[in-house]
This record gives sequence, C-alpha cells and structure tokens, in this order.
Amino acid sequence: MKTILPADLDPAATNALLTGGVGPRPIALASTVSGRGERNLAPFSFFNAFGSNPPMVAFAPNRRARDGTVKDTYRNATGTGEFVIAAVSFAMLQQMNVASADYPGDVDEFVKSGLTPLPARFVAPALVGESPFQMECRLHREVELGSGPGSGLMLIGEVLAFHVREDCLDLHPDRLDLVGRNGGAFYTRASGHAILQVAKPAGRPIGYDALPEVLRGSRILTGNDLGRLANSADLPDPAQAAALRDDPGDAEGLERAIHLALLREDLPEAWRLAGRRQML
Ligand SMILES: Cc1cc2nc3c(=O)[nH]c(=O)nc-3n(C[C@H](O)[C@H](O)[C@H](O)COP(=O)(O)O)c2cc1C
Repeated sequence: MKTILPADLDPAATNALLTGGVGPRPIALASTVSGRGERNLAPFSFFNAFGSNPPMVAFAPNRRARDGTVKDTYRNATGTGEFVIAAVSFAMLQQMNVASADYPGDVDEFVKSGLTPLPARFVAPALVGESPFQMECRLHREVELGSGPGSGLMLIGEVLAFHVREDCLDLHPDRLDLVGRNGGAFYTRASGHAILQVAKPAGRPIGYDALPEVLRGSRILTGNDLGRLANSADLPDPAQAAALRDDPGDAEGLERAIHLALLREDLPEAWRLAGRRQML
C-alpha cells in the first residue's frame, strides 16, 4: 500500500485520485434556469441522496479548477433556489457528455445536447424527457467546502416531486440502465452482468468470528465465501453432515465444493459440506 497525503499533491492530482478511487458515482444531470430565464443543463457526479424523510439529495457544482470561478449551474441554483436532477441512462450517455462542455451562460445545453426539455410541475427548470428518473428540488442549504480553485460547493435540495418513467416503476436496474462515473473517461453501465443481488443480513448474523477454524484457515475459500457463511442466521450443527453423499474425501476437494455451492447460492449445501470438512 502506498500512502499519499493531499498536502503533497496539486489540486488536479488530488481530483484524479479522488474521482478514480471514489466510484462509480451516480450522475446528476442538473437542469436550472438563470434569473433571466435562460435554461442550463450540466452533469455532476459529486452527487448522492442523503435522507428520505424528507427526501434530500446533494450535488456539487464546484469552483472551476482552472480559475476558481463558479459554474452556471451553481449561480442559477443558488439564485433561484430551484433545480431538477435527472438520472442518466446509458441511452443518454453521449448527449449528457455534450451537455458537460463549458458553454457560456447564455447557451442552452438542451439545444446543444439535443435532450428534450419538458415542463416541471413545481419548479421553473425543465425536466429531461429522455431520463427514466427525475427529481424536482428546492434548495435546502448550500455548504461551502473551501475557497480555492476546484473547491467544493455542495447544494443540498429537498425533493418536491419524483418522476419515474412508466416502464421503470419497479426501479429494476436493467430497465433504468443507469450509468455511473469512474475516474478519467471511464464510466460504468449498471445493468446486465454488472447487477448482482446480495441478501441483507437478517437480524444479527453469526459473523466471521463464529466460523469454524478450518474454514477460516482455508486457502481455497475466498473473502466472499466466508462473508456469505458469516451472514448465516445461526451456526448449523456439523452433525448434519451425517447425511453422507458422494462428497470429496479430502480437505481441498471439500473446500472447492463449498466454494461452488456458494457460487450457486446454495447455502444449506455449503454448510452441509462445511460440516463434512470439520469432521476430517
Ligand atoms: C459525468 C460528468 C460528471 C461531472 N461531475 C462534476 C461534478 O461533480 N462537479 C463539477 O463541478 N463538475 C462536474 N463535471 C463537469 C461539469 O459538467 C462542467 O464543468 C460543466 O461545464 C458545468 O456546466 P455549467 O457551467 O453550465 O454549470 C462533470 C462532467 C461530467 C461529464
């Protein structure tokens, strides 16, 4: 492990480190209007949700790294107290990218990107017709995280209305098909093989420390294997392995069989084999 101190980096290197390691980040396509009514649209991946009662989201249109000036989105959102955040699906990726270009404040990025402005219900900024999930927001609070170039300007907004495309009402990741931002020019597409399901711990699972010593010391079982076993509600009695099947007779063979059972999500079979392994 190499240890890196922010004090030893310039702001650009710090930004590369942060955005490369903190990811993938969701992307807020923020729609705002200026005091003169000019529309603006730009993406921000310093973005997340922070509470659901009331629903609160935050994103950070930061000071420009080049000269410390503020971005149009920041000026508009703080000036009017309103913004719309549209989630970015894979189908919108390239148009979202065009909207990120540094056009002057009077240029409408809806026009430049070809994305479709639609009227919102409670706020003046437009919804984005192509987005499967959007939020109309009222500015709740602004948090200044520094004063130099590249410093953070976090805008927290209360969600006044959600808009969800009809075919995405179940919020299934494959239908939303959202993209996330990694470092540099890298993005993540959050659908298909990228999606996995992990059962939440039910109550208080037994934990790693309760796993039999032979399993914890295995060279075959992975951290994920042991974590899945540690997430069990209780420690099964090794005697259940009395129901002998055609199992491998050696430690390594049994541990491989446990690993495969966990890959199949067959927890009872993994524990049965674990019992056999303990009896060796
Ligand atoms: C995917 C993506 C994510 C971005 N995230 C941020 C961000 O979190 N904060 C930021 O200040 N700029 C971010 N940018 C850059 C802004 O989109 C860019 O500075 C834009 O020109 C700002 O537009 P505005 O001046 O109209 O507000 C991001 C760009 C892209 C493509």
